[in-house]
Amino acid sequence: MNWPLHLATNRQAIWPSEPLMRFIGRTYGNAPDRSKVRFLDIGSGKHAPNTHALTLMGYDVIAIDFAPGALAHERADIRASMLFEPETFDCVLDINTLCHVPDPPIAEIHKWLKPGGKFYSIAPHINTSRGHLEGKGYCRCAAWHGIQQLLAPFWDNLVSGFI
Ligand SMILES: C[S@@+](CC[C@H](N)C(=O)[O-])C[C@H]1O[C@@H](n2cnc3c(N)ncnc32)[C@H](O)[C@@H]1O
Repeated sequence: MNWPLHLATNRQAIWPSEPLMRFIGRTYGNAPDRSKVRFLDIGSGKHAPNTHALTLMGYDVIAIDFAPGALAHERADIRASMLFEPETFDCVLDINTLCHVPDPPIAEIHKWLKPGGKFYSIAPHINTSRGHLEGKGYCRCAAWHGIQQLLAPFWDNLVSGFI
């Protein structure tokens, strides 16, 4: 997948993800000091809508994306080694990004989370309509068993749902 070309030539999300915003309100809305709640936004995208919204709300967000046309604090591949120290983030966000990465670094993400930290991921399911995935190259549309295998480090505390 040529993400730099894709970002340069295709429409990208400008609004934050609605289910993500509801999760943030439920989970971190009452944080006494939002600047102490640390997020990692993996694959922030051309307009980084989720990073932007969370930053405006006062949270501490680091956005990473490897495409030159993306808005990000760190321009790097999420699979690069030694990106972050263990126990750095309260919450790691994957909004339709790791589904495009054949071998996503799930074990590393698990280590980057503080104790009790959360990994919030939105990804297509095997039954998701393929229309909007056209031209995006590799995309994992997993069934329940595949998701279970992929998220093995999180499995004991997994909460899932359809949106
Ligand atoms: C479908 S877009 C999603 C953008 C954003 N999360 C959103 O919801 O609007 C996927 C983004 O992930 C980035 N990306 C894909 N693979 C990546 C990787 N291995 N490392 C870092 N960024 C990656 C692409 O450059 C692109 O900006």
